[in-house]
Amino acid sequence: MKILVTGGAGYIGSHTCVALLEAGHQVTVLDNLCNGSEVALLRVGEITGKAIAFVQGDVRNQADLSRAFAGGIDAVIHFAALKAVGESCEQPLRYFDNNIGGTISLLQAMQSHGARRLVFSSSATVYGQPERVPVDERAPVGASNPYGRSKLVMEDLIRDWCAARPDVSALLLRYFNPVGAHPSGRIGEDPHGVPNNLMPYIAQVAVGRRVRLQVFGGDYSTPDGTGIRDYLHVVDLAEAHVKALDHAVNVTGCHVFNLGTGRGYSVLELIHAFVKASGRDVPYIIGARRAGDVADLSADPSRANSKLGWQASHDLEAMCADTWRWQSQNPDGYNRM
Ligand code: NAD
Ligand code: WQD
Repeated sequence: MKILVTGGAGYIGSHTCVALLEAGHQVTVLDNLCNGSEVALLRVGEITGKAIAFVQGDVRNQADLSRAFAGGIDAVIHFAALKAVGESCEQPLRYFDNNIGGTISLLQAMQSHGARRLVFSSSATVYGQPERVPVDERAPVGASNPYGRSKLVMEDLIRDWCAARPDVSALLLRYFNPVGAHPSGRIGEDPHGVPNNLMPYIAQVAVGRRVRLQVFGGDYSTPDGTGIRDYLHVVDLAEAHVKALDHAVNVTGCHVFNLGTGRGYSVLELIHAFVKASGRDVPYIIGARRAGDVADLSADPSRANSKLGWQASHDLEAMCADTWRWQSQNPDGYNRM
């Protein structure tokens, strides 16, 4: 199929491009490079030996979308969004404009270009403060920050679009905590500035870019007192998108799927696994809890197992080893200025 990947020059998008090309799809990427890198796309080409069509442009811009849809598109995977929770609290309107505005504009373009299949990057953040774990897709949703609210609104927009159009399908994929990198070490996560997320922070401490990690809270009601999350290898996540596309062509309507391993690890367990995989020291101090964090969040991924035929296969050791290969071979990421 001909697939448009918005945000394909970013972390999850670039890994998904590899999986799509390896599955025989043709890929066009639309990305404004606000948080992505063209180098990542060059490296996707290097890994797969296949070409990607790249349109540098914004999903909020219909002229850019028309360039991306030129030549025909069968399905869209929509990654393009801003994703930093803290930043979204400081600049909510920017997040609403980019994420919600971008999704409306994309749906309009899909409609005018006759594209009927959509796979959407949602997030476990839509579960807010869950009543129990592991969470399945029927759990109540609620936003605890503007980023999360933007994901909930985007899910609703897509649901309404599907309700009005019986010929379309959309899969809303709620990712838990994507980590890791392609095993080649050529593509990986390259956060701008100080990383917000745990794994890239640990990797930057291990490689010597940062002095120490601050563990956000050691007094949670978890076995070692630190927060538990469902970490998921980005290569498994990329594979889930290929399976989601296969599913999307056979169904209509809007369908939600959790993507996680179903197994949670604490912050300290992740640090210890990373030290083992890298052979490096990761100094840390236990600090205060981070506002908005929950003690324990893990997925019930059984719907994705049964309906998409997808299951994560990489363990924590592989997540750490692949992150380390990427970080140690690219200590400054893609060397963006
Ligand atoms: P990323 O920042 O690496 O990738 C997003 C890409 O979208 C970037 O390349 C950026 O340049 C591009 N982009 C942003 N706004 C755009 C716009 N208006 N027009 C065109 N391009 C635009 O982030 P990621 O980690 O790869 O996340 C991809 C998607 O998955 C996002 O929607 C994110 O909200 C979602 N998600 C990420 C995580 C995570 O922990 N990484 C977890 C759950 C959900
Ligand atoms: C993981 C654990 C922290 C950093 C976020 C978003 C979520 C989704 C995934 C996009 C927690 C602890 C972290 C640090 C730490 N993104 N931690 N020191 O918060 O589960 O989810 O990314 O949709 O929306 O909220 O991930 O990696 O930030 O934190 O101790 O320097 O690591 O408290 O327990 P989180 P994270």
